[in-house]
Amino acid sequence: MFAIESFNVAKLYKGSNKKALDDISLKIESGKISTLLGRNGAGKTTFVRICSTQLLPTSGKVLIFGDDVVSSPEKIRKIVSIVPQEGRPLRALTPWDHIYNWLKIRGECNNSASKKTSDILNRLDLYIAKDVPVLNLSGGMKQKILVGMAMATETPLLFLDEPTIGLDPVSRRQVWSLIKDWKNKGRTIVLTTHYMDEAELLSDSIFIIDKGKVISKGTMTNLRNTLNYQIRVDINESFKYNNRNIKDLFFSFGKIIDISSNSIRLFTYESNLKEISELAMKSNLSFAVSPITLDDIFVNLLGEIPID
Ligand SMILES: Nc1ncnc2c1ncn2[C@@H]1O[C@H](COP(=O)(O)OP(=O)(O)O)[C@@H](O)[C@H]1O
Ligand SMILES: [Mg+2]
Repeated sequence: MFAIESFNVAKLYKGSNKKALDDISLKIESGKISTLLGRNGAGKTTFVRICSTQLLPTSGKVLIFGDDVVSSPEKIRKIVSIVPQEGRPLRALTPWDHIYNWLKIRGECNNSASKKTSDILNRLDLYIAKDVPVLNLSGGMKQKILVGMAMATETPLLFLDEPTIGLDPVSRRQVWSLIKDWKNKGRTIVLTTHYMDEAELLSDSIFIIDKGKVISKGTMTNLRNTLNYQIRVDINESFKYNNRNIKDLFFSFGKIIDISSNSIRLFTYESNLKEISELAMKSNLSFAVSPITLDDIFVNLLGEIPID
């Protein structure tokens, strides 16, 4: 069964003349990690809010495990949890209060709520701060409380809307580890992010969203194949060249995109590498070779480097 099926979903916010979502149809498998990837303003949060029954679609239909978000919101709310993008914990309460009380509100008994609260606080390295009021915690710790609240619920479906924003590298990894465990228990995750590394590392399937539309979708392998090239070479100009000169030198090897006023990115094949490196060295240009990443696929689809 699909966790989410959306059919031609559109959203026009009141007072706006531009659709935030424009005909989104997609299916999200249960038991997997699916990622909505896109730039700021692409429509990710709008879609997540509709799926989690916080916002009504203007048109179209969304089913969550077969139930309609418009006609059965109460039923859906019991099986869904969310880390909202703009959520903030309450200043006067502690991490323990937030998670424990949230579990109680959702119907857990005292023992189970206590155990789950301790477990999740430990996993997020928040246990030592469990009794500290939120107003004395760092931004990253506040964000982890929201992640903890949602993940302690153990609902079949979890939405994480940019969950690692503002987290340090260690905290990001703690959250990633929880996300992987969640999936290993057969539960479903829908993640939104604009971090390519996060999407690449965690996702079973990826939906690239831009201007309210799904512009590409698939596994990482499917998406890699849309680009048709195997490697990328970043080439920097020396004092002798400008971008146009560099492009003239390398255009026959593949597809070229500007990455700054003095460097270009060439998507190409491994078989060209020897010739490219010889030409770059002969021309006194520095270069770096790396495999194609999700970032490249994104750039290829949109024709430009995403700006965060
Ligand atoms: N409450 C709102 N009222 C009007 N427009 C909104 C509202 N929320 C979002 N938008 C607009 O909808 C579009 C999609 O926003 P959003 O779903 O937040 O994108 P993302 O999460 O991908 O950054 C943007 O153009 C944004 O300005
Ligand atoms: Mg958003």
